[in-house]
Amino acid sequence: MLQGKKIVLGITGSIAAYKACYLIRGLIKQGAEVQVVITPSGKEFITPLTLSTLTGKPVVSEFFDRRDGSWHSHVQLGLWADAMVVAPASASTIGKMANGIADNMLITTYLSMKAPVFVAPAMDLDMFAHPSTQKNLETLRSYGNHIIEPATGFLASKLEGKGRMEEPEHIIEILDSFFAEKSDLQGKRILITAGPTYEKLDPVRFIGNYSSGKMGIALAEECAERGATVELICGPVSIKTNHPNILRTDVESAAEMYKAATEAFPNTDAAILCAAVADFTPSVVAGNKIKRKGDKLTLELTPTKDIAQALGKMKRDGQVMVGFALETNDEENNAKEKLLKKNLDFIVLNSLQDDGAGFRHNTNKVTLIDKEGETKFPLKSKKEVAKDIVNKLVSIVK
Ligand code: C5P
Repeated sequence: MLQGKKIVLGITGSIAAYKACYLIRGLIKQGAEVQVVITPSGKEFITPLTLSTLTGKPVVSEFFDRRDGSWHSHVQLGLWADAMVVAPASASTIGKMANGIADNMLITTYLSMKAPVFVAPAMDLDMFAHPSTQKNLETLRSYGNHIIEPATGFLASKLEGKGRMEEPEHIIEILDSFFAEKSDLQGKRILITAGPTYEKLDPVRFIGNYSSGKMGIALAEECAERGATVELICGPVSIKTNHPNILRTDVESAAEMYKAATEAFPNTDAAILCAAVADFTPSVVAGNKIKRKGDKLTLELTPTKDIAQALGKMKRDGQVMVGFALETNDEENNAKEKLLKKNLDFIVLNSLQDDGAGFRHNTNKVTLIDKEGETKFPLKSKKEVAKDIVNKLVSIVK
């Protein structure tokens, strides 16, 4: 899986920098190209000559070449790479990455990086355990970076504990399975609905809901990163998407979402219906702003079309459909009923009774239910929840 992959290897000031040599050797043996970017203190531990000899490429460390003033483009490196690995990652570099302190070439490269980033911390046990380091690692996780947990064992300080950089062979295995997983939706086309819908009442008001689109967009990104072409139909949300595999159509109302989804569905292999679609829409949209008048306003609402149910009827053999159920009571029975009624292959249940689950949060707690049974997952970031959902999708999509 690493054949031809372009890896930017960031090396920082830690005694584990010597292990970077084994990492480079292993990556090159598997057919990868490696470009080292090293921090000034990284160079105190290992020489650029050793590294450039192993990689066959000059090591990047300064913003420009002191001999001829030519500029080293961190932006170019960010576009060139298939992955960036920071190994070893010192507490200082982790802190700078988490906070955007761009005072060296490694951090500017990280900030420009378009490819997935892996971080392998290496430090003394107390530094690793410090709330500051843990908070910075949590921040990196929230940016979607992959943290390669350090191992527990003998440290350079002669103490024993958690902080040893993961062994190079294991880092290579992690990268290898990442790229294997990354392409498991190659050639597939997936429709995803996300976000809320707004149902117009008059030129300035609408009926909407609290959906932020975070879950649907995390799913779109996960499918795109794993090689699928994603037809994302998005209600009004503020989140941007920029993965080239995501073809996004922005809509406002349930009717617009229905039209876009039913048009796109026949050419797809799977659909994930994550949008919180309004069930009712105003029967008439006032041409002018509704004025305050009397002590009561009665609105007449008409049911919208159920997109999931319509697609469930159109579904051909081999097409996979995943729905969501956000419930407040009798959760599992309601979800099972929807699974059958909408002809879904599985349904993702989240309950508003669980803290940190559902609308607007960055986390979610879900149960995946199909005809055979159910799997409960703990509270995780929406990015990780997206992975669990897509893993199940991959196991059934042909
Ligand atoms: O019936 P309920 O709205 O709870 O069902 C939730 C599932 O149905 C979600 O997958 C949601 O995206 C989908 N749905 C839809 N069109 C509607 C209503 C719900 O696609 N009009």
